[in-house]
Amino acid sequence: MTIQEVQDEIRRLKKENDICILAHSYQAKEILEVADFSGDSYALSKLAKTAPNKTVIMCGVRFMAETVKMLSPEKKVILSSPIAGCPMAEQMDIELIKQLKEMYPDYTVVAYINTTTELKTVCDVCVTSSSAVKIVKQLESDNILFIPDCNLGAYVQKQVPEKNFKLVQGGCPVHAAVTKRDAEQAKAAHPNAELLVHPECVPAVVELADYVGSTTGIMNYAKNSDKKEFIIGTENSIAEHLQYACPDKDFYVLSKALMCKNMKATTLIDVLNCCKGRSGEEIDLDPDTIAKAKKCIDVMISLGG
Ligand code: 13P
Ligand code: SF4
Repeated sequence: MTIQEVQDEIRRLKKENDICILAHSYQAKEILEVADFSGDSYALSKLAKTAPNKTVIMCGVRFMAETVKMLSPEKKVILSSPIAGCPMAEQMDIELIKQLKEMYPDYTVVAYINTTTELKTVCDVCVTSSSAVKIVKQLESDNILFIPDCNLGAYVQKQVPEKNFKLVQGGCPVHAAVTKRDAEQAKAAHPNAELLVHPECVPAVVELADYVGSTTGIMNYAKNSDKKEFIIGTENSIAEHLQYACPDKDFYVLSKALMCKNMKATTLIDVLNCCKGRSGEEIDLDPDTIAKAKKCIDVMISLGG
């Protein structure tokens, strides 16, 4: 079978079985092409609420599929690849957060959406990279305990200097591995290029950037810019998607190490087999956990717009 024949079969099965495919922007091009919607974590969370289909296949990582299930418990939600976790989401456990809450009772716990469902049950509000600043600014509390990504937390802290932040050590091992030296070398190799980075990168890299934003933010910035060259400081698939979308511009990866093996765990054949009901993992969350964890997603969507 050719790629196109596989894609056509996926499209046929989607219709036949009333399936919606959601894909994070880090997925491969051939998967994005069969998705009904693609985008950053925030866009996917909002779409999860409105997709009319009986079944949703989430091509991304586990916390994204769990978010879909929380927002649409009546739907059958399939994670495209059962091994696709997010190491950051599993860095902190509920006991640690309970201890921190006891130590800092007057702090609002703001959790990056890259957290487990269990962890979300003890947090006050979720944020994503594209909505964090807007949401934190609107919170009543001036005291913010930000988990689990201290790099995103440091970025938000800089944008919202009027509030007090406590950051907890944690973060995305893929983005956090990029160094200031990587950024300096990339800028020296491409002196006319703008550096666009994700806020999961360390502050020393973020400081050198011309633009800081979510995956969708980076893509929109590069597409709409008059500039012709860009160094992309997020998962390397974004540089590839941008190169296809903007053939008159040049895109360079900030570091070859910016590759998330979890986001890349899903193949087009996995998607085909999910549509046939022969692959993937159905997400199963108990109603009590959903009720407790969903609150912070609902606050995120109501404040994030
Ligand atoms: P965004 O989709 O919010 O840009 O986050 C990137 C990411 O690492 C998702 O796991
Ligand atoms: Fe998790 Fe980082 Fe991979 Fe995103 S890029 S899924 S935050 S490990």
